[in-house]
Amino acid sequence: VKTDGLPLNPLRTAAGPEPELLCIFGTGDLGRSLGQRLLQTGYRVVYGSRRPHSCGPVPQGAQVLSHAAAAQSAKLVFICVHREHYDFLEALAPQLKGKVLVDVSNNLKKNLYPEANAEYLQRLIPGAFVVKAFNTLSAWALQNGPSDANRQVFLCGDSAEAKQQVSDVATRLSFSVVDRGSLSAARELEDFPLQLFPEWRLPLWIATGLTASFFFYAVIVDIVYSYVTYKKDTSFRIMVSLANKVFPIVSLIMLSLCYLPGVLASFFQLYRGTKYRRFPDWLDRWMLCRKQLGLLALGFASLHVLYTLLIPIRYFVPLFTLCHYQIRENKTVDFETSTAWYTDSYYSMGILGFGLYVILGISSLPSVSNALSWREFNFIQSKLGYLTLFFCTFHTYLFGWNRFLRSSTYKFWVPPPYMLCLVVPTVVLLLKLLLLLPCVDRTVTRIRQGWERNEPE
Ligand code: HEM
Repeated sequence: VKTDGLPLNPLRTAAGPEPELLCIFGTGDLGRSLGQRLLQTGYRVVYGSRRPHSCGPVPQGAQVLSHAAAAQSAKLVFICVHREHYDFLEALAPQLKGKVLVDVSNNLKKNLYPEANAEYLQRLIPGAFVVKAFNTLSAWALQNGPSDANRQVFLCGDSAEAKQQVSDVATRLSFSVVDRGSLSAARELEDFPLQLFPEWRLPLWIATGLTASFFFYAVIVDIVYSYVTYKKDTSFRIMVSLANKVFPIVSLIMLSLCYLPGVLASFFQLYRGTKYRRFPDWLDRWMLCRKQLGLLALGFASLHVLYTLLIPIRYFVPLFTLCHYQIRENKTVDFETSTAWYTDSYYSMGILGFGLYVILGISSLPSVSNALSWREFNFIQSKLGYLTLFFCTFHTYLFGWNRFLRSSTYKFWVPPPYMLCLVVPTVVLLLKLLLLLPCVDRTVTRIRQGWERNEPE
């Protein structure tokens, strides 16, 4: 951080160069928060206002002048007013000539205007150097400063010198700067705050679609079947039993959807014999949301584990059913070691799978993944990832056990939901197994190292 020997207290007038003076147009929330933070960091601040004597409260230590006088006194001017009010700036063109204008504005909707606000500002004052910056931060974040090391200020502009000046201010405010290039990137920066979890949208749609479909399917083959066949009302099962069917099923499918695009990408490369051709757009988009898919899948798996903890508490349901059966049929059901073996095994696989699942989730957090080398990250996400998928799939196969062969399992002649959900993970694991065959693996590795099948000799 450059301090240039500036006194930390902006109001101190002891020997030494005077702190730099920065100008802010606009005394709204953002203008006031920015001014306060700049004052705390050691800058002097002057506000430009239409009514300098009655403009409302400004941070202590800041001056308020007319727009023209304020603009003239500083080299850098923050424009903290809405775009609709930019017209008044045109009259100030002579005072703003050669100044750096920082456009911090945002819009309420995308594509509201034909050009970005910062480009419009540059058109109004062609003699100034417009830089788009700080628009992705809220007034709260500006006032309190970065709450973690990752708080970034995105900026763009046509003048490298102007960008440097804005970047120096942002760095002194303890933000990290990301330069997005020329002013033509302003629209993209203005769209940033309008996005609502863009990379989560597809995974959330998939999760919602799968949950709704499997829930519907489970109601039919479980509740409706009991009612139609035995005239028994088992609708109470919806709250716990059905939830504990649907959540792990969605989790397992989503976990396999994290690994399917990687496997498909390998087959694309094998088929094309090169790594230098772009993947289809849908595959690119799919690959980019794998982390979100995985984290949502972990969330669903955690719900399954929580619901499973309930099973011993509500053991009265299976126990009552078992006692009822024994009394009615006048039979004793003996303890069976093989049944105990299969139940313990699927429990154990579930626990191992969930343990690895959690490691995968933790290692995808930026603070953890940044501390890992690429090889370590790749080892966890790929090798341990497939092992997780294997344990969870095996857990579900063991849960099915001999029910796969029993005709009573297929109510309404359709398979139960957990059998359906095994299709995707099984396909992914089989394809991965195919890729692990030495001859296939060798070719994929060579392609990834740059070898091309149809390379001219
Ligand atoms: C089913 C336990 C982790 C996927 C079950 C059941 C239990 C169980 C007791 C039977 C539920 C019932 O009777 O309806 C556990 C434990 C886990 C664990 C103790 C870890 C601590 C996982 C994980 C996955 C998973 C990580 C994969 C995402 C499934 C599936 C079913 C199932 C798909 C079948 C659901 C159904 O149709 O009833 N698990 N599980 N489990 N589990 Fe897990």
